[in-house]
Amino acid sequence: DQPLRAHAEARGKFIGTALSTSPLANETAYRNIAATEFNQITPENAMKWDATEPNQNQFNWSGADAIVNFATQNNQQIHGHTLVWHSQTPAWVQNLGADAMRTAMRNHIAQVAGRYASNPTLVSWDVVNEVFDDNGNMRNSFWYQRLGDTYIADAFRAAKAADPDARLCINDYNVEGINAKSTAMYNLVRSLRAQNVPVDCVGFQGHLSTQYGFPSQVQQNVQRFADLGVQVRFTEIDIRMLTPRTAAKDTQQATYYRDIVNACLAVTQCAGITIWGFTDKYSWVPETFPSEGAALIYDENYAQKPSYTAVHNALAGG
Ligand code: G3I
Repeated sequence: DQPLRAHAEARGKFIGTALSTSPLANETAYRNIAATEFNQITPENAMKWDATEPNQNQFNWSGADAIVNFATQNNQQIHGHTLVWHSQTPAWVQNLGADAMRTAMRNHIAQVAGRYASNPTLVSWDVVNEVFDDNGNMRNSFWYQRLGDTYIADAFRAAKAADPDARLCINDYNVEGINAKSTAMYNLVRSLRAQNVPVDCVGFQGHLSTQYGFPSQVQQNVQRFADLGVQVRFTEIDIRMLTPRTAAKDTQQATYYRDIVNACLAVTQCAGITIWGFTDKYSWVPETFPSEGAALIYDENYAQKPSYTAVHNALAGG
């Protein structure tokens, strides 16, 4: 049958995966599936601050360029991830005073977004990532402590200046359904747009777990954002389970994948779905949640799981 990307293209959506530089360089099976099945790529770590600007004004493009080149060869779009985040940001940034931190942020955005601004492969950016805490208050990060919430609008304006044609996203987790945090995100996006801040996309990460249930009212939630005039997208989908896998857990996971794809298909302004990797061989989940895993659509040996079939059939309209 046809790969995921053929069905997604027929529906006018992207189907993407996050890619990691090491297996991309070293494993043929990883490369082949990444090239064949997906039409959109997000670098899992290679465009983060610690990778691109480990020391002030010393930029390292090796990982980022490798992934952009792979995507270009395979006729895929790149979603840049991420310009401003509280994690994977070097200590030298975190230790700056307010004025120097703002200058460093603007310079980082100018350099990183500017590098790919004329490259048609790179079409969008996560400008800020995870600005809320789990309760929907502003996260008390070093950005917030030093600059208040002004860093958010500032980052979007800097990204717009660096790459005027890119789609500029704000991205977070636990905002897939309607809840206090997604409502805080909704209010922030509405307020930023009222101030003409160039945010034109909202990313819903979608790190879900079969243990905690499927979020409520996902389609209604992404639709209310779309109604603000922004594009919406699922950016980091994975659906973890208590390991080991069982047939029942695989089936439940497959229904979650199906329901996310269907929510995107049901909303005109939903651009597509990115899965946070594709093989259980490479996933952040077991390192962070030691008794959980098996969150992706291929197993450790690159065999397709029931969740692959679920994504495939949903995209195919089955
Ligand atoms: O690069 C170092 C390497 O030099 C070192 O030898 C090695 C030893 O542990 O660590 C390497 O860094 C790791 C890095 O991934 C690159 O592989 C870090 O330890 C590890 O913590 C880091 O994890 C990443 C995580 O973000 C960090 O917060 C995951 O791969 C990545 O999947 C995950 O992705 C995030 C999104 O960016 C934002 N949303 C949540 C999502 C899941 O946490």
